[in-house]
Amino acid sequence: MKALITGATSGIGQSFAANLSKKGWALILTGRNEEKLKEMKNSLGGSVEIIAADLAKREDVFRVYEFCRDKNVDMLINNAGYGLFGKFDETDLDDEVNMINVNITALHILTKLFLRDFKKNDHGTILNVASAAGFMSGPLMAAYYGSKNYVLKLSLAIYEELRRDHSNVRITVLCPGPVDTNFNNRAGVSFSVKPITADYAADYAISKALNGKFFAIPGLVVKLGTLAPRFLPQKLLAAIVYNIQKAKKTSDGKEKALK
Ligand SMILES: NC(=O)c1ccc[n+]([C@@H]2O[C@H](COP(=O)([O-])OP(=O)(O)OC[C@H]3O[C@@H](n4cnc5c(N)ncnc54)[C@H](OP(=O)(O)O)[C@@H]3O)[C@@H](O)[C@H]2O)c1
Repeated sequence: MKALITGATSGIGQSFAANLSKKGWALILTGRNEEKLKEMKNSLGGSVEIIAADLAKREDVFRVYEFCRDKNVDMLINNAGYGLFGKFDETDLDDEVNMINVNITALHILTKLFLRDFKKNDHGTILNVASAAGFMSGPLMAAYYGSKNYVLKLSLAIYEELRRDHSNVRITVLCPGPVDTNFNNRAGVSFSVKPITADYAADYAISKALNGKFFAIPGLVVKLGTLAPRFLPQKLLAAIVYNIQKAKKTSDGKEKALK
């Protein structure tokens, strides 16, 4: 079995790689950090191919797909992504558009191209990494939450299309709360609740994906949190999320955010 993992150089992606490698899977790993990819190829053992790519660039997304096509990939893991913190009118536009390119556009393109191949063979699994943020609006992290809503809703729609087709192709969406990775440093935030480990998040998601489950929401508190939109009006929920985030200032002036 073979998996393509995006964002494999750090955090949850690195844990996906270690987990599947231990299970004997062949891997194709991508990320921008070529040195880290080479290091992982040497340390993981087994069959590991690497391709450095910046998924904010459309041409790199297609280059990754071309590298993988005809290699009999069984699982696509769309994991690359990052967040930005700040009021919407104050966050950097270029950085935010790049984030949309990585979190949404690259995931969209790879999902479509691999889904077409998987459907031809009536075989394959797509594991999209969204977030608990995908269930709600996120004042002070507006575009990030919006991007994860897209990932969740797109994946759910594809799930239903596959179900109606009686397809053997599977799609799973991972929606974690805080995970202990480099995410916070990139987003410029600190944790508001105790994070789970990247290894746990990856193991949980892979076991759901291999069992054909759609939702992978690790942790009881986060699971309950994702139910909030069913019971609370959207505007009230947005106000709650704003207050939680705003109240989480740390002594060094950083602010904490829900992921
Ligand atoms: N950590 C959390 O609390 C949390 C919670 C919910 C969801 N998530 C989601 O989990 C996923 C993985 O994040 P993480 O927590 O593991 O963070 P991380 O440690 O910062 O890892 C992010 C990964 O994304 C890759 N990446 C970022 N920009 C890229 C670009 N332009 N092109 C290609 N690859 C790029 C990075 O690789 P390079 O730097 O090598 O490019 C890195 O491997 C993300 O989609 C994130 O939104 C995280």
